[in-house]
Amino acid sequence: MAPILAPAHPPNSPARLHALIPAAGVGSRAGTAGPKQYELLEGRPLVLHTLAAFAQVRRLASVVVVVAPGDDRLASGEGYEVVPCGGATRAMSVAQGLDHLARRGASDQDWVLVHDAARCLVRPEWIDALIDTCEQDAVGGLLAQPLTDTLKQEDGGRVQGTLPRRGKWLAQTPQMFRIGVLRRALAQAGEDVTDEASAVEALGLHPMLVTGSAQNIKVTWPEDFALAGAVLRSRQA
Ligand code: CTP
Ligand code: MG
Repeated sequence: MAPILAPAHPPNSPARLHALIPAAGVGSRAGTAGPKQYELLEGRPLVLHTLAAFAQVRRLASVVVVVAPGDDRLASGEGYEVVPCGGATRAMSVAQGLDHLARRGASDQDWVLVHDAARCLVRPEWIDALIDTCEQDAVGGLLAQPLTDTLKQEDGGRVQGTLPRRGKWLAQTPQMFRIGVLRRALAQAGEDVTDEASAVEALGLHPMLVTGSAQNIKVTWPEDFALAGAVLRSRQA
């Protein structure tokens, strides 16, 4: 069973760290029969690779996985709790997961690391680097990668212009914020934001960009499964 959070977080105690893993999507772009997070990769459902990385981050007080209501494909396990409170959008799933953490005793000052279940190549050392960089920061931040390709603006299948690449980053996860700030940000941002940082930015705050890895892909398209499998095999070799 997952570790049970203390019912009440004593005042003035240090902020704790929680991980929240949205896994309530349908994976419509992945071309799989079922939701992509359950697709077998090297013999294990994709989401279990994600959870294995988080299991190696010793500083986490709890790990909560948000799945769709009625989804019984993943049960709570060693060190993580599965909660069937997913919503219609990723932002709604995250907001529901944050409500659950708050009900379980997480305080507004606690940190939460929100991480896409579909980013199954994440490594514990990248998660630790994000925590090390953000833990003393007023806002928090996210793993991200500077853009390497040239960026084109399209119109009707043709290039309309080339956008300056300098200073542009690709947002990844985990994204680490204070639970209170993130709940307020998501409540104000609405249900269509695709990451936590954009909701926090809308409050006028400026999250830190922490360099991640190009390997931290979000399995999205059919060809991504073979790529993720190859990376996992290369790590075992
Ligand atoms: N997610 C979620 N709840 C939703 C939608 C997405 O918890 N209503 C989760 C997904 O399970 C995934 C992560 O958010 O782990 C990132 O979303 P994405 O890669 O877009 O996954 P899907 O929405 O499932 O895929 P698609 O957009 O192709 O349908
Ligand atoms: Mg999606």
